[in-house]
Amino acid sequence: MNSVSPVPRTARAYPNIALIKYWGKRDELLHLPTTSSLSMTLDIFPTTTTVTVCDREFDEVILGDEPAPTDFAGKVSRFLDLVRDRAHDTRHAYVHTCNTVPLGAGLASSAAGFAALTVAATAAYGLDLKEPALTRLARRGSGSASRSICGGFAQWHRGEGDGTAGDESSFAETLDATRLNVALVVAVVSAREKPISSRAAMRRTMETSPFYLPWVKSSAEDLYRMRKAIYAGDLPVVGEVAERNALGMHATMLGARPAVRYFAPGSMQVLDRVLGLRDEGVPAYATMDAGPNVKVLCDRSDSSRVAADLAEIVGTEQVLVAHPGPAATLETA
Ligand code: DP6
Repeated sequence: MNSVSPVPRTARAYPNIALIKYWGKRDELLHLPTTSSLSMTLDIFPTTTTVTVCDREFDEVILGDEPAPTDFAGKVSRFLDLVRDRAHDTRHAYVHTCNTVPLGAGLASSAAGFAALTVAATAAYGLDLKEPALTRLARRGSGSASRSICGGFAQWHRGEGDGTAGDESSFAETLDATRLNVALVVAVVSAREKPISSRAAMRRTMETSPFYLPWVKSSAEDLYRMRKAIYAGDLPVVGEVAERNALGMHATMLGARPAVRYFAPGSMQVLDRVLGLRDEGVPAYATMDAGPNVKVLCDRSDSSRVAADLAEIVGTEQVLVAHPGPAATLETA
């Protein structure tokens, strides 16, 4: 067992929004994805988590000001088991986490949450992991969390093979996006809990949708084009590929049995408005995750115009403007 003093360690991480989506696992235990994915880490809605290793019988998990719901606490505890295993330390921990993103609204609170937990917990248990290892560990909490370890634009590699080979090769890394100057305008259509979790929905899609494998194949081509466009700073190509990849993912869900449908009437209105903006010469492109909210990628200089247009549909308070944000960071002890 490590002799770690019970020093609280605090980390902050931000959500990320995928431009090439992760939808489906080839290994549910190791969270090995079917496809590689690519995302932008945001500069809004951070999660801050403090982990203190201590001598107690159970992990205690506090979410905001309250004890966390049992399923949430269970996920945290199972994740801490992975950290304890690596640290050869059996002690439990006190975990305090504060989310600023509405839970379950398709704004990826689990990505920021597990990224912050990964950084805080590894430090609290005395592990010194480099970024690739942190992204692999965060992946075990929630797949998309691997990308929130990185700042700016990141690719999460699907990795090759199964078992240890798959685990070691499935990590996230930051991409060079210095030629892109973008904003992501979030239109919150509904902050209600989603009808089915992304985890259950992606499993059902893989098992039952006849459209799933064609999307997997097209996603590899999308990734190739997207990487080149990001490097070249070509927003129209980045946006078009992101939009078609996301709508394609939703098409696979609509083909699932029973169908998984995250679109709400307001989502459709926002998607229509994005097409309208493009007709008016504003390069704006939509993406959606496992929820009804729509995120619109545009040039930083167009973000006020895009936000004003979307506010007419969902209301001013329901529109947020984000930019590429920082990597997950550990506060100095
Ligand atoms: C639609 O990372 O939440 O947001 O690995 O099962 O925890 P688990 O899933 P999660 O799925 C995110 C799905 C998505 C697309 C994406 O972020 O790439």
